[in-house]
Amino acid sequence: MKQVYVTRNIPEVGLSLLRENGFLVDVSKKDGVLTKEELIAELKQKPYDAVLCLLTDKIDSEVFEAVPNAKIFANYAVGFDNIDIKAAKDRGIIITNTPGVLTDAVAEFTIALMMATTKRLIEADSFTREGKYQGWDPDLFVGSELKAKTIGIVGVGRIGKRVLHHCVKGFDMKACYYDLNRDESIEQEYQAQFFTNLDDLLRQSDIVSIHVPLLESTKHLINKEKLSLMKEGAVLINTSRGPVVDEQALVEALATKKIRAAGLDVFEFEPEISTGLERLPNVVLTPHIASATNEARGEMSKIAASNILAVLSGNLPLNQVN
Ligand code: DGY
Repeated sequence: MKQVYVTRNIPEVGLSLLRENGFLVDVSKKDGVLTKEELIAELKQKPYDAVLCLLTDKIDSEVFEAVPNAKIFANYAVGFDNIDIKAAKDRGIIITNTPGVLTDAVAEFTIALMMATTKRLIEADSFTREGKYQGWDPDLFVGSELKAKTIGIVGVGRIGKRVLHHCVKGFDMKACYYDLNRDESIEQEYQAQFFTNLDDLLRQSDIVSIHVPLLESTKHLINKEKLSLMKEGAVLINTSRGPVVDEQALVEALATKKIRAAGLDVFEFEPEISTGLERLPNVVLTPHIASATNEARGEMSKIAASNILAVLSGNLPLNQVN
């Protein structure tokens, strides 16, 4: 009987799929992220054939060594920067992710952060709860509209494209994008302007939304210098990976009002939040929940399980990334 280890409880649908296909499935009993030592100890318990892991698990050669039988590590996320891809490749271990199924969840959440920041929703909610509302006031929480503003999308993969769609079709925004690859269909469909240079996009955009994977080349893609290029009233949204933004530089830019606001679902030192960020009223902070919809999480569970099913049945996985 093939054996699968799951590093944390996930929606039942994927686990059932594996069990229905005759696999023995062990799910970590810890209500939280396993430390590396704990993970290694768990993996050494049985000759597991596959591992279903999460973006909070750091998977490197030491972890691979603990499961010499494992043919696949199926990541329960679209991002896979938590896995040492080269070490996996060297060992012939297949790595898969869960693309496509969380596109709408993350794109909608990105729009929610845009709304929360430009309408000052969270500040206004706190103010009202604190009993400070004394009556209608022409100066109370004046924000800005999205219509006719320019959205700058950094990275037009599935999610970036979907956000661009919502902005243009839903809010009549103008759009521009920066990516290593040009996508002329976006330009035609949304009259989006393509920039080969990130600096130009930053100078032009009223809202900048980041949708790139975390790579060596994208770490601190948005740093002090890049923030200084943004418009004074600009808003930065990040639902990709925290280290893409130099968080200390962002704290400074927000504190000095170099940019107007930011909406962050991800953090450079997650789950730690850089000092100062939590005290700023012009930033909306959420705990990496952009994909947290019942729909997306159920499908992520199914896809991760299907990848394991395929590989352990001798077939090609649906979403191999290495
Ligand atoms: C991902 O899938 O990479 C998201 O960050 C979490 O679901």
